[in-house]
Amino acid sequence: MNNSLFFTPAKLGPLQLRNRSIRAAAFEGMTPGHEVSDALISYHTALAQGGVGMTTIAYASVNKGGLSFPHQLYMRKEIKASLQKLTAAVHKEGAAVSIQLGHGGNMANRTVTGIRPVAASGGINWYGPTFPRSMVTHDIESLKKDFVQAVLLAAESGFDAVEIHAGHGYLISQFLSPYTNKRKDLYGGKFENRKRLMTEILQSVREAMPEKMALLVKMNCWDGFEGGITREEGILTAKEIAACGADAVVVSGGFVSRAPMYVMRGKMPVDIMAYFIKEAWKKMFVSWFGESLIPAIPFHEGFFMEAAKSIQNSLSIPVVLVGGMNSIETINKAMEEGFQFIAMARALIHNTNFINDLRNETINRSECTICNYCVAKMYSGQIACHLNEKNLPAALQEKIAAMQMNGHPALKAKSAAI
Ligand SMILES: Cc1cc2nc3c(=O)[nH]c(=O)nc-3n(C[C@H](O)[C@H](O)[C@H](O)COP(=O)(O)O)c2cc1C
Repeated sequence: MNNSLFFTPAKLGPLQLRNRSIRAAAFEGMTPGHEVSDALISYHTALAQGGVGMTTIAYASVNKGGLSFPHQLYMRKEIKASLQKLTAAVHKEGAAVSIQLGHGGNMANRTVTGIRPVAASGGINWYGPTFPRSMVTHDIESLKKDFVQAVLLAAESGFDAVEIHAGHGYLISQFLSPYTNKRKDLYGGKFENRKRLMTEILQSVREAMPEKMALLVKMNCWDGFEGGITREEGILTAKEIAACGADAVVVSGGFVSRAPMYVMRGKMPVDIMAYFIKEAWKKMFVSWFGESLIPAIPFHEGFFMEAAKSIQNSLSIPVVLVGGMNSIETINKAMEEGFQFIAMARALIHNTNFINDLRNETINRSECTICNYCVAKMYSGQIACHLNEKNLPAALQEKIAAMQMNGHPALKAKSAAI
């Protein structure tokens, strides 16, 4: 039995977690028709059985207009009973459960929402492609109400925590970033103004939510490219989040429409992504331009640790460390550095029992190869690790074999380039 501090209970705001592990929000794709499926419940139950302190349901939109995918959840009272079933199943296995709430902004998909996407500023987002319109005061006021309603629904559905998504180039992050925020009003220009939407949302939800519920916020330490938020603004973002009464900040980085691999590092297997896409034109576009639109960034374990450390040093609330926390060695290093909570996505996508396996010393490192097959698959269906997939069509098996012959460039890298 491993006796690392990581496996001991800890307080996260009002919550007592049985250990310091959190399943990071990683879009499951298990909500076809925007409904909670049995697969989603089974998956998070398995994570709870596998020992995580808290699991997170990913990427739920606060309203229909913020959806990116047809298989994504949006918060509405009609799904309360199924959310209650989900939270009860996780609680039965001794874990806490959180839900990530956000809005896609210029990453929302009109064919899914039926309405034109809204964003900090209009223009074109080539990554969609989408042609969002700039939000007016009325949109902002109604968005704040939607965040509050979503948090209240999460509370009534039995969630222990909510995680507001303020990173990765989605709507709140689009306001924070000078790359996407070209506004001339009180919500644009200097950082003081760009952070205003985030502040108002966080203040509204903190005031409305029950005290027994924890508030986490996922944010960017850096957008991952020059012209986005600076590292200094990353620190200011974290301080603002703390000042709004959050219980913890999840330090991440990257921008889906500009530096997507900064979020998770490694290489996107674009052939596999194209394989799963149904629309012929998109399939072709991804095959031809995917590599240049989604440039690889080398992976190394604990890739946000340095950035998260400088943020932790200027905060009184805990930082949740995420990003390649794939071995007990790196986890223990983080514990020695004073981090209290560790979140993981791919290690737990590969193996829902990863936490128990580390504690029981059956393994000391995840067998996830950072091939990012799970990410490629997520856009069109349910996430899965290719190492666990069974009965795959021959054409897909060939593509997986080719991907492995590439030799996992992510793992070969000695250090992060940026
Ligand atoms: C398949 C997949 C889906 C993801 N979806 C989300 C998401 O919905 N929301 C989010 O904040 N981050 C998302 N992420 C990023 C992860 O939460 C995490 O920050 C990142 O993968 C680095 O952690 P890891 O090295 O443990 O995978 C996703 C990552 C993966 C691999």
